[in-house]
Amino acid sequence: MKQGGSDAAKRAAGESAAEAVEDGMVVGLGTGSTAAHAIRAIGRAVDAGLDVVGVPTSFQSRELARDCGIPLADLDDVSVDLAIDGADEVAGGDLVKGGGAAHAREKVVDASADRFLVVADPTKAADRLSVPVPVEVLPMARSTVAEAVAELGGDPTLRRAERKDGPVVTDNGNLVLDCDFGGIDDPAALASDLSALPGVVEHGLFVDMADEIHVGTADAVTVRD
Ligand code: 5RP
Repeated sequence: MKQGGSDAAKRAAGESAAEAVEDGMVVGLGTGSTAAHAIRAIGRAVDAGLDVVGVPTSFQSRELARDCGIPLADLDDVSVDLAIDGADEVAGGDLVKGGGAAHAREKVVDASADRFLVVADPTKAADRLSVPVPVEVLPMARSTVAEAVAELGGDPTLRRAERKDGPVVTDNGNLVLDCDFGGIDDPAALASDLSALPGVVEHGLFVDMADEIHVGTADAVTVRD
């Protein structure tokens, strides 16, 4: 995963997207260090009187939103006006997500939103997607999905926890295969192939979902439609 961006760039992107949040909105709260800056900015606005409800995309974003005083709701009970989320790579309007293993819930929330804003630093931008695609799998399907990914031309690696001796387990109790396909010429076709594999819960290809991409640097933000 690309983790090289500066915190100032991430903060600029997150705070830029948070400016789109209006009184009365239901806001999808993304996962990761860039989305966290948006959550903190929304929390400050709530402190100042903004009336919003958040829908978290992970345990991590839920905890941060609670710490920031943002009222929360379940997706069963609300519809999302605006979602703000990070990305591991951005090429045109397509993304790879799932560096935080949260892409299944992120995709549900982000896809349900009327508007989906992506926040990123310049290290995430690419001409074509090429970072490994995270694929969340049912634990019992880990080997069969890995074989099928190899048949599709990918090289799957079970994601392991950095500080623990064992695999990463998602908020949904599943495993993650990071699947290296090299440069991806047709993200929509690969997305469809991965979705069709039995045992795949969700993959991290977000094809043509973004309405705006906010790319921050230490001194400026570029917004792409
Ligand atoms: C989590 C994600 C994150 O949005 C993505 O990994 C970007 O994270 P960061 O802003 O920390 O670089 O998809 O599943």
